[in-house]
Amino acid sequence: MRKPVKKAIFPVGGLGTRFLPATKAMPKEMLPVVDKPLIQYAVEEAKGAGIEEIIFVTGRGKAAIEDHFDISWELQKTLEARGKDQELATLAKIASEPGQISYIRQQEALGLGHAVWCARHLIGDEPFAVLLADDLILAKEPCLKQLIDLHQDVGGNVVAVQDVPKDQTDRYGILDVVNDDGRVAKAKGLVEKPSPDVAPSTLSIIGRYVLEPDVLHELDRKEKGAGGEIQLTDAMARTIDRLAFHDLRFDGTRFDCGNKSGFLEATVAFALEREDLRGAVLDIIARYGAANLTQDNDISAKVIEVCK
Ligand code: UTP
Repeated sequence: MRKPVKKAIFPVGGLGTRFLPATKAMPKEMLPVVDKPLIQYAVEEAKGAGIEEIIFVTGRGKAAIEDHFDISWELQKTLEARGKDQELATLAKIASEPGQISYIRQQEALGLGHAVWCARHLIGDEPFAVLLADDLILAKEPCLKQLIDLHQDVGGNVVAVQDVPKDQTDRYGILDVVNDDGRVAKAKGLVEKPSPDVAPSTLSIIGRYVLEPDVLHELDRKEKGAGGEIQLTDAMARTIDRLAFHDLRFDGTRFDCGNKSGFLEATVAFALEREDLRGAVLDIIARYGAANLTQDNDISAKVIEVCK
Protein backbone atom coordinates (compact mmCIF):
# COMPACT_ATOMS: atom_id res chain seq x y z
CA MET A 1 0.00 0.00 0.00
CA ARG A 2 1.50 3.35 -1.05
CA LYS A 3 1.43 6.38 1.22
CA PRO A 4 -1.34 8.76 0.09
CA VAL A 5 -0.43 12.19 -1.29
CA LYS A 6 -1.90 14.71 1.13
CA LYS A 7 0.57 17.64 1.03
CA ALA A 8 1.15 20.10 -1.79
CA ILE A 9 3.85 22.72 -2.23
CA PHE A 10 3.02 25.90 -4.15
CA PRO A 11 6.26 27.71 -4.99
CA VAL A 12 5.33 31.38 -5.29
CA GLY A 13 8.71 32.96 -4.61
CA GLY A 14 9.57 33.89 -8.22
CA LEU A 15 10.03 37.49 -9.34
CA GLY A 16 7.60 37.37 -12.27
CA THR A 17 9.82 39.63 -14.39
CA ARG A 18 7.95 38.77 -17.59
CA PHE A 19 4.89 40.56 -16.23
CA LEU A 20 6.53 43.79 -15.15
CA PRO A 21 5.29 46.38 -14.41
CA ALA A 22 2.13 44.51 -13.24
CA THR A 23 4.24 42.41 -10.86
CA LYS A 24 6.27 45.25 -9.36
CA ALA A 25 4.10 45.43 -6.23
CA MET A 26 1.75 42.49 -6.85
CA PRO A 27 2.63 38.77 -6.97
CA LYS A 28 2.36 37.18 -10.42
CA GLU A 29 0.23 34.44 -8.83
CA MET A 30 -2.44 37.02 -7.94
CA LEU A 31 -3.01 38.01 -11.58
CA PRO A 32 -6.66 37.21 -12.28
CA VAL A 33 -7.91 35.05 -15.11
CA VAL A 34 -11.44 36.41 -15.55
CA ASP A 35 -12.13 37.09 -11.85
CA LYS A 36 -10.04 34.59 -9.92
CA PRO A 37 -6.31 34.77 -9.15
CA LEU A 38 -4.07 32.13 -10.71
CA ILE A 39 -3.11 30.80 -7.29
CA GLN A 40 -6.74 30.14 -6.35
CA TYR A 41 -7.26 27.98 -9.43
CA ALA A 42 -4.21 25.92 -8.39
CA VAL A 43 -5.37 25.57 -4.78
CA GLU A 44 -8.85 24.50 -5.91
CA GLU A 45 -7.28 21.91 -8.22
CA ALA A 46 -5.23 20.54 -5.32
CA LYS A 47 -8.21 20.34 -2.98
CA GLY A 48 -10.17 18.63 -5.78
CA ALA A 49 -7.37 16.03 -5.87
CA GLY A 50 -7.65 15.27 -2.14
CA ILE A 51 -4.81 17.49 -0.89
CA GLU A 52 -5.25 18.39 2.79
CA GLU A 53 -2.13 20.42 3.59
CA ILE A 54 -1.19 23.45 1.52
CA ILE A 55 2.34 24.86 1.73
CA PHE A 56 3.14 28.17 0.06
CA VAL A 57 6.80 28.97 -0.45
CA THR A 58 6.69 32.73 -0.60
CA GLY A 59 9.17 35.58 -0.87
CA ARG A 60 9.31 39.34 -0.50
CA GLY A 61 6.26 41.18 -1.80
CA LYS A 62 3.95 38.16 -1.68
CA ALA A 63 1.81 39.21 1.30
CA ALA A 64 -1.26 39.60 -0.94
CA ILE A 65 -1.35 35.79 -1.28
CA GLU A 66 -1.58 35.37 2.51
CA ASP A 67 -4.32 38.00 2.68
CA HIS A 68 -6.23 36.34 -0.14
CA PHE A 69 -6.49 33.03 1.71
CA ASP A 70 -7.24 34.69 5.06
CA ILE A 71 -10.64 35.71 6.39
CA SER A 72 -11.47 39.35 5.63
CA TRP A 73 -13.73 40.29 8.53
CA GLU A 74 -14.50 43.86 7.45
CA LEU A 75 -15.42 42.78 3.93
CA GLN A 76 -17.50 39.87 5.23
CA LYS A 77 -19.44 42.03 7.71
CA THR A 78 -20.06 44.69 5.06
CA LEU A 79 -21.36 42.12 2.58
CA GLU A 80 -23.58 40.58 5.27
CA ALA A 81 -25.00 43.99 6.18
CA ARG A 82 -25.77 44.64 2.50
CA GLY A 83 -27.32 41.22 1.96
CA LYS A 84 -24.78 40.30 -0.73
CA ASP A 85 -25.24 36.53 -0.44
CA GLN A 86 -23.67 35.58 -3.76
CA GLU A 87 -20.48 37.51 -2.99
CA LEU A 88 -20.37 35.94 0.49
CA ALA A 89 -20.64 32.48 -1.07
CA THR A 90 -17.74 33.38 -3.40
CA LEU A 91 -15.59 34.30 -0.40
CA ALA A 92 -16.62 31.15 1.49
CA LYS A 93 -15.14 29.02 -1.33
CA ILE A 94 -11.66 30.43 -0.61
CA ALA A 95 -11.79 29.47 3.07
CA SER A 96 -9.52 26.74 4.43
CA GLU A 97 -9.57 24.82 7.68
CA PRO A 98 -7.54 26.43 10.47
CA GLY A 99 -3.97 25.12 10.17
CA GLN A 100 -4.47 23.79 6.64
CA ILE A 101 -2.20 26.41 5.06
CA SER A 102 1.47 27.00 5.95
CA TYR A 103 3.82 29.66 4.66
CA ILE A 104 7.56 29.16 4.30
CA ARG A 105 9.80 31.97 3.26
CA GLN A 106 12.30 31.57 0.43
CA GLN A 107 14.59 34.46 1.34
CA GLU A 108 16.32 34.49 -2.06
CA ALA A 109 14.85 33.43 -5.41
CA LEU A 110 17.55 30.81 -6.09
CA GLY A 111 15.38 28.65 -8.34
CA LEU A 112 12.37 26.34 -8.32
CA GLY A 113 14.37 23.44 -6.80
CA HIS A 114 15.48 25.68 -3.96
CA ALA A 115 11.87 26.84 -3.37
CA VAL A 116 10.69 23.23 -3.07
CA TRP A 117 13.62 22.36 -0.79
CA CYS A 118 12.65 25.21 1.56
CA ALA A 119 9.49 23.19 2.45
CA ARG A 120 11.40 19.96 3.28
CA HIS A 121 10.69 20.01 7.04
CA LEU A 122 6.95 20.27 6.44
CA ILE A 123 6.98 17.36 3.98
CA GLY A 124 8.97 14.84 6.02
CA ASP A 125 9.02 11.29 4.67
CA GLU A 126 6.03 11.06 2.36
CA PRO A 127 5.20 11.67 -1.29
CA PHE A 128 4.05 15.21 -2.05
CA ALA A 129 2.67 17.31 -4.88
CA VAL A 130 4.11 20.48 -6.42
CA LEU A 131 1.89 22.86 -8.36
CA LEU A 132 3.08 25.91 -10.29
CA ALA A 133 0.20 28.34 -10.41
CA ASP A 134 1.32 29.95 -13.65
CA ASP A 135 0.51 26.70 -15.44
CA LEU A 136 -3.27 26.96 -15.49
CA ILE A 137 -5.11 23.82 -16.51
CA LEU A 138 -8.61 23.51 -17.86
CA ALA A 139 -9.74 19.92 -17.29
CA LYS A 140 -12.85 17.95 -16.37
CA GLU A 141 -10.91 15.95 -13.79
CA PRO A 142 -8.25 17.97 -11.92
CA CYS A 143 -4.86 17.34 -13.52
CA LEU A 144 -3.32 16.68 -10.10
CA LYS A 145 -5.96 14.03 -9.38
CA GLN A 146 -4.98 12.27 -12.62
CA LEU A 147 -1.33 12.33 -11.49
CA ILE A 148 -2.10 11.08 -7.98
CA ASP A 149 -4.18 8.21 -9.38
CA LEU A 150 -1.24 7.21 -11.60
CA HIS A 151 1.14 7.53 -8.65
CA GLN A 152 -1.03 5.12 -6.66
CA ASP A 153 -0.55 2.58 -9.48
CA VAL A 154 3.12 3.02 -10.34
CA GLY A 155 4.79 4.87 -7.42
CA GLY A 156 8.04 6.78 -7.85
CA ASN A 157 8.00 10.25 -9.34
CA VAL A 158 5.14 11.20 -11.65
CA VAL A 159 4.92 14.40 -13.69
CA ALA A 160 2.43 15.94 -16.12
CA VAL A 161 3.78 16.37 -19.65
CA GLN A 162 2.80 17.71 -23.02
CA ASP A 163 4.38 17.84 -26.45
CA VAL A 164 5.85 21.22 -27.35
CA PRO A 165 6.98 22.55 -30.74
CA LYS A 166 10.53 21.39 -31.52
CA ASP A 167 11.88 24.96 -31.66
CA GLN A 168 10.69 25.63 -28.08
CA THR A 169 12.51 22.85 -26.20
CA ASP A 170 14.92 25.42 -24.73
CA ARG A 171 12.09 26.84 -22.62
CA TYR A 172 11.20 23.60 -20.79
CA GLY A 173 12.40 20.52 -18.92
CA ILE A 174 12.51 17.82 -21.64
CA LEU A 175 12.27 14.04 -21.21
CA ASP A 176 14.37 11.22 -22.57
CA VAL A 177 11.71 8.52 -22.92
CA VAL A 178 12.00 4.69 -22.97
CA ASN A 179 8.42 3.38 -23.00
CA ASP A 180 5.48 5.37 -24.25
CA ASP A 181 1.93 4.04 -24.68
CA GLY A 182 0.61 7.41 -25.87
CA ARG A 183 -0.75 8.34 -22.43
CA VAL A 184 1.85 7.22 -19.90
CA ALA A 185 5.55 7.26 -20.70
CA LYS A 186 8.55 6.18 -18.66
CA ALA A 187 11.62 8.39 -18.74
CA LYS A 188 15.28 7.40 -18.46
CA GLY A 189 16.54 10.96 -18.35
CA LEU A 190 15.65 14.64 -18.12
CA VAL A 191 17.29 17.74 -19.49
CA GLU A 192 16.50 21.29 -18.40
CA LYS A 193 15.93 23.70 -21.31
CA PRO A 194 17.97 21.85 -24.02
CA SER A 195 18.47 23.59 -27.36
CA PRO A 196 16.33 21.98 -30.10
CA ASP A 197 19.33 20.31 -31.80
CA VAL A 198 20.23 18.25 -28.69
CA ALA A 199 16.76 17.80 -27.14
CA PRO A 200 16.06 14.05 -26.63
CA SER A 201 12.32 14.53 -27.39
CA THR A 202 9.65 17.22 -27.48
CA LEU A 203 7.90 15.93 -24.37
CA SER A 204 7.97 18.70 -21.82
CA ILE A 205 7.30 18.72 -18.10
CA ILE A 206 4.64 21.18 -17.02
CA GLY A 207 4.02 22.54 -13.55
CA ARG A 208 2.37 19.52 -11.89
CA TYR A 209 4.45 16.94 -10.03
CA VAL A 210 3.97 14.10 -7.55
CA LEU A 211 7.36 13.43 -6.03
CA GLU A 212 9.01 11.09 -3.56
CA PRO A 213 10.97 12.62 -0.67
CA ASP A 214 14.24 11.36 -2.25
CA VAL A 215 14.00 14.40 -4.52
CA LEU A 216 14.29 16.63 -1.44
CA HIS A 217 17.43 14.74 -0.38
CA GLU A 218 18.92 15.38 -3.82
CA LEU A 219 18.10 19.06 -3.44
CA ASP A 220 20.18 19.08 -0.22
CA ARG A 221 23.21 19.31 -2.51
CA LYS A 222 22.07 22.77 -3.66
CA GLU A 223 23.77 22.28 -7.02
CA LYS A 224 23.15 25.03 -9.52
CA GLY A 225 21.98 24.14 -13.02
CA ALA A 226 20.61 25.98 -16.07
CA GLY A 227 20.52 29.76 -15.59
CA GLY A 228 22.60 29.46 -12.39
CA GLU A 229 19.45 28.35 -10.53
CA ILE A 230 18.88 25.31 -8.32
CA GLN A 231 16.66 23.29 -10.64
CA LEU A 232 13.97 20.81 -9.59
CA THR A 233 14.50 19.00 -12.88
CA ASP A 234 18.15 18.24 -12.03
CA ALA A 235 17.20 16.77 -8.63
CA MET A 236 14.50 14.59 -10.22
CA ALA A 237 16.96 13.46 -12.91
CA ARG A 238 19.43 12.30 -10.23
CA THR A 239 16.84 9.92 -8.73
CA ILE A 240 15.97 8.29 -12.06
CA ASP A 241 18.36 5.31 -11.76
CA ARG A 242 16.75 4.18 -8.48
CA LEU A 243 13.16 5.48 -8.71
CA ALA A 244 10.64 4.98 -11.49
CA PHE A 245 9.87 8.20 -13.35
CA HIS A 246 6.51 8.27 -15.12
CA ASP A 247 5.08 11.00 -17.31
CA LEU A 248 1.39 11.49 -17.88
CA ARG A 249 -0.17 13.13 -20.93
CA PHE A 250 -3.07 14.37 -18.84
CA ASP A 251 -6.59 15.01 -20.12
CA GLY A 252 -7.04 18.77 -20.27
CA THR A 253 -5.54 21.93 -21.71
CA ARG A 254 -2.67 23.78 -20.13
CA PHE A 255 -2.12 27.51 -20.49
CA ASP A 256 1.32 28.93 -19.77
CA CYS A 257 0.24 32.01 -17.82
CA GLY A 258 3.88 32.87 -17.05
CA ASN A 259 3.99 34.52 -20.46
CA LYS A 260 1.67 37.15 -21.85
CA SER A 261 0.19 35.36 -24.86
CA GLY A 262 -0.56 32.25 -22.77
CA PHE A 263 -2.20 34.40 -20.13
CA LEU A 264 -4.37 36.16 -22.73
CA GLU A 265 -5.40 32.85 -24.27
CA ALA A 266 -6.31 31.48 -20.83
CA THR A 267 -8.47 34.51 -20.19
CA VAL A 268 -10.42 33.91 -23.40
CA ALA A 269 -10.70 30.14 -22.84
CA PHE A 270 -11.86 30.44 -19.22
CA ALA A 271 -14.30 33.23 -20.08
CA LEU A 272 -15.78 31.02 -22.82
CA GLU A 273 -16.36 28.33 -20.16
CA ARG A 274 -18.51 30.74 -18.17
CA GLU A 275 -22.20 30.88 -19.00
CA ASP A 276 -22.47 34.50 -17.84
CA LEU A 277 -19.65 35.61 -20.18
CA ARG A 278 -19.65 33.25 -23.15
CA GLY A 279 -22.03 35.37 -25.28
CA ALA A 280 -20.10 38.57 -24.66
CA VAL A 281 -16.74 36.94 -25.43
CA LEU A 282 -18.00 35.38 -28.67
CA ASP A 283 -19.30 38.79 -29.68
CA ILE A 284 -15.93 40.43 -28.95
CA ILE A 285 -14.05 37.73 -30.90
CA ALA A 286 -16.42 38.12 -33.86
CA ARG A 287 -16.03 41.90 -33.89
CA TYR A 288 -12.24 41.84 -33.73
CA GLY A 289 -12.12 38.96 -36.24
CA ALA A 290 -14.32 40.90 -38.64
CA ALA A 291 -11.94 43.86 -38.39
CA ASN A 292 -9.38 41.60 -40.10
CA LEU A 293 -6.51 42.60 -37.85
CA THR A 294 -3.09 41.51 -39.12
CA GLN A 295 0.51 42.21 -38.12
CA ASP A 296 0.79 44.90 -40.83
CA ASN A 297 -2.48 46.73 -40.11
CA ASP A 298 -2.64 50.06 -38.43
CA ILE A 299 -4.02 48.15 -35.44
CA SER A 300 -4.98 51.08 -33.26
CA ALA A 301 -7.08 52.65 -36.03
CA LYS A 302 -8.89 49.32 -36.60
CA VAL A 303 -9.43 48.78 -32.87
CA ILE A 304 -10.95 52.23 -32.54
CA GLU A 305 -13.25 51.35 -35.46
CA VAL A 306 -14.31 48.05 -33.84
CA CYS A 307 -14.97 49.69 -30.49
CA LYS A 308 -17.20 52.42 -31.93
P1 UTP B 1 9.52 31.06 -13.41
O1 UTP B 1 10.60 30.38 -14.15
O2 UTP B 1 8.26 31.33 -14.14
O3 UTP B 1 10.11 32.40 -12.79
O4 UTP B 1 9.21 30.19 -12.11
P2 UTP B 1 9.38 33.65 -12.22
O5 UTP B 1 10.36 34.45 -11.44
O6 UTP B 1 8.14 33.27 -11.47
O7 UTP B 1 8.90 34.47 -13.50
P3 UTP B 1 9.76 35.27 -14.61
O8 UTP B 1 10.42 34.23 -15.47
O9 UTP B 1 10.73 36.19 -13.92
O10 UTP B 1 8.70 36.04 -15.35
C1 UTP B 1 8.41 29.04 -12.16
C2 UTP B 1 7.74 28.87 -10.81
O11 UTP B 1 8.70 28.69 -9.79
C3 UTP B 1 8.53 29.64 -8.76
C4 UTP B 1 7.76 30.78 -9.39
O12 UTP B 1 7.03 31.50 -8.42
C5 UTP B 1 6.88 30.05 -10.39
O13 UTP B 1 5.73 29.51 -9.77
N1 UTP B 1 9.86 30.04 -8.27
C6 UTP B 1 10.86 30.28 -9.16
C7 UTP B 1 10.08 30.16 -6.92
O14 UTP B 1 9.16 29.96 -6.09
N2 UTP B 1 11.32 30.51 -6.49
C8 UTP B 1 12.35 30.74 -7.35
O15 UTP B 1 13.47 31.02 -6.88
C9 UTP B 1 12.10 30.62 -8.72
